[in-house]
Amino acid sequence: MKVRSVGILGTGVYLPEKVLTNADLEKMVDTNDEWIVSRTGIRERRIAADHEASSDLSIKAAEMALKNANLTADQIDLIIVATVTPDMSFPATACLVQDQLGASKAATFDLSAACTGFIYGVSAASQFIATGVYRYALVIGVECLSRIVDWEDRNTCILFGDGAGAAVLGPVEEGYGFLSYELGGDGSGGELLKIEAGGSRCPATAATVEEKLHSLSMSGREVFKFAVRVMNNATEGALAKAGLEKEEMDLMVPHQANIRIIESAMKRFGLTKDKVAINLDKYGNMSSASVPVALHEAVQENRIQKGDHVVLCGFGGGLTWGATVLKWSQEEAK
Ligand code: ACO
Repeated sequence: MKVRSVGILGTGVYLPEKVLTNADLEKMVDTNDEWIVSRTGIRERRIAADHEASSDLSIKAAEMALKNANLTADQIDLIIVATVTPDMSFPATACLVQDQLGASKAATFDLSAACTGFIYGVSAASQFIATGVYRYALVIGVECLSRIVDWEDRNTCILFGDGAGAAVLGPVEEGYGFLSYELGGDGSGGELLKIEAGGSRCPATAATVEEKLHSLSMSGREVFKFAVRVMNNATEGALAKAGLEKEEMDLMVPHQANIRIIESAMKRFGLTKDKVAINLDKYGNMSSASVPVALHEAVQENRIQKGDHVVLCGFGGGLTWGATVLKWSQEEAK
């Protein structure tokens, strides 16, 4: 089977207007700006308006990505929405997005890989395009984490934010686009990061609401250690599969969970700040939206040139991890 090169043709984002600063959080829980900045690097995050759900954020990011790719919604063959905060259990948020966008011929599904969701999403979508099954795919990473955070738990509520990032994938010049994928999971660590109730194991009851079992719970220290190890290993694996040395990496776009995790990767790969996309100070951890939003901002700031090696890497609940290497093509749809 002939395999064609697949790359990113356009990106887009949507960040809700409302900003929640560390000073605001000081009024809500026993915390302070100094602790949050020194332990995480986060200064503020965005919070979706009451009327906004993940599909609303997705549609705005998708419209921008389509415009930047010079495509219309009816040309899209596949929509993947990576999220742990879908509008509802079903229908899939991807179906809601398809309807609102008018992408009537697109196949649709949601993908649950927590903060690694966007990397899993582009990895999956690009296989369809590489094999000629589809031509154009829209991959969205979106979260309304403010809806699943326990706003009385200082261990978690300071970390997360809401937002959406989207990318349109399609065929690119041979030798450009995605060069390698390194995905992984370890379900034995699932307990470290989860929402316990609301599924078939523990359906919603008055008691589950009372016990806050619908809120995100996390063992921060364990996740931290795991994150440092797997993000570095996944990046090394993806570089090796692409036949590249770490010195050939032009831009790393890591998941934005904690500045100390990103700094450990910078040390491991000998990267200076100009070679890493960092935006967690402005948005916190937006789970599956973090990587596409950081990628979009790097594109907008002209930090990526044709031929650059861009590495997307992340980790998250599941546990999951992943990295993918792109040779940037800067093409619009033809
Ligand atoms: N303000 C002030 N003090 C706090 C706060 C806060 N917001 N939160 C915790 N503390 C306290 C703790 O209670 C603890 O006090 P104690 O020693 O008296 O018990 C102390 O600060 C230190 O707590 P640690 O948990 O050791 O702090 P740590 O340096 O590990 O930082 C953090 C915590 C930021 C959560 C870090 O562990 C981390 O970033 N972990 C990774 C999280 C992550 O990457 N998640 C990604 C996946 S998310 C997803 O997939 C949806």
